[in-house]
Amino acid sequence: MKPVQIGVIGTGSISSLHLDSYKNNPNAKIVAVCDLNEERAREAAEKYGAENVYTDYNELLANPEIEAVSICTWNNTHAEICIAAVKAGKHVLVEKPLCRTVKEALQIQEAVQASGKILQIGFVRRYDANAQLLKSLADSGEFGEIYYAKATSLRRIGNPGGWFADIERSGGGPLIDIGVHVIDLSWYLMGRPKPVSVSANTYRKLGNRANVEGLWRYKAADYDASKNTVEDMGNALIRFENGASLAVEASFTIHAKDNEGFVKLYGEKGGMEVDPEVVIVTEKYNTIINSYPQTDHKGFHFESAFQNEINHFIDNVINGTKPISPVEDGVEMMKILCGIYESAAKGVEVQL
Ligand SMILES: NC(=O)c1ccc[n+]([C@@H]2O[C@H](COP(=O)([O-])OP(=O)(O)OC[C@H]3O[C@@H](n4cnc5c(N)ncnc54)[C@H](O)[C@@H]3O)[C@@H](O)[C@H]2O)c1
Repeated sequence: MKPVQIGVIGTGSISSLHLDSYKNNPNAKIVAVCDLNEERAREAAEKYGAENVYTDYNELLANPEIEAVSICTWNNTHAEICIAAVKAGKHVLVEKPLCRTVKEALQIQEAVQASGKILQIGFVRRYDANAQLLKSLADSGEFGEIYYAKATSLRRIGNPGGWFADIERSGGGPLIDIGVHVIDLSWYLMGRPKPVSVSANTYRKLGNRANVEGLWRYKAADYDASKNTVEDMGNALIRFENGASLAVEASFTIHAKDNEGFVKLYGEKGGMEVDPEVVIVTEKYNTIINSYPQTDHKGFHFESAFQNEINHFIDNVINGTKPISPVEDGVEMMKILCGIYESAAKGVEVQL
């Protein structure tokens, strides 16, 4: 069987996880890369053996050899590139967040449905082996009805600068960038209940703290600390139609003694924690039992989760199957994220 012919659009910081994972998949072949920065695209092409290098994604999409693309560009470009890609007959794996607004999300959904092509969203947390284990237990009723969840992603010093810190290009700060991962994972494990309202706060108190030295931080390929128009911290309480609720907090910077990240869910029959270590909580023999499933990684493992995500995408392209992170879920996530920003701006609870 001929491998699926792949183009990668955007060859900045996260793209190497896509490129490495395609390279490891015998059913995929990287044939083209594209970046506004030609030198960056050429470097990736050389490293991964891509024959074609573009600086205009429209030219990549016009190449009939290419069957599927990864979109690893700034958030403000996701909608236009997704729509152009499915119209050009390509299957799409787009990085999170799907886009910046609900309007853009609905336009993407319409284009995907009209094209019949696959669009998979890079909600990479779902693809972690531990998350999949917990999902199968949740689906089999192990935890009963899940009525409450907490999702935290706090970075002390973690503003990635560049476009991430420019609200026009990112759509927002830590809530849309890293909050989206834990909100989405919680929502997925809760069984994707319909969100009905949000009450949220955002804070711009500390700036980007680019002055702080000695701590590693994820950076945009074009790191630039001179502009910062996003929140540095935010929190939200999301209410769902089935009565369940989700409490969220996310920061690029906060005066915390350490970074903190977890997803905890509570059901009628038991509870579970995903990060930093997988735990299943139950009651048995009139006592509380905490179980620690023995898997290859205690908590979230970046490389293997990306590999699973890419393998799933290639399988979907080959078999015509639906992704576990489809466009509809991206639309719902944009409703939640935009509801959070609207609620914080107005200072009131908003109905979704
Ligand atoms: N899944 C994850 O855990 C994860 C982690 C980091 C970033 N991301 C997402 O991946 C995307 C990229 O993030 P990054 O950290 O790699 O950013 P980056 O700034 O390091 O890289 C983005 C690249 O896209 C290029 N680009 C921008 N617009 C383009 C266009 N129209 N055509 C061609 N190239 C274009 C830029 O020149 C840059 O090289 C974002 O959507 C981000 O939210 C996901």
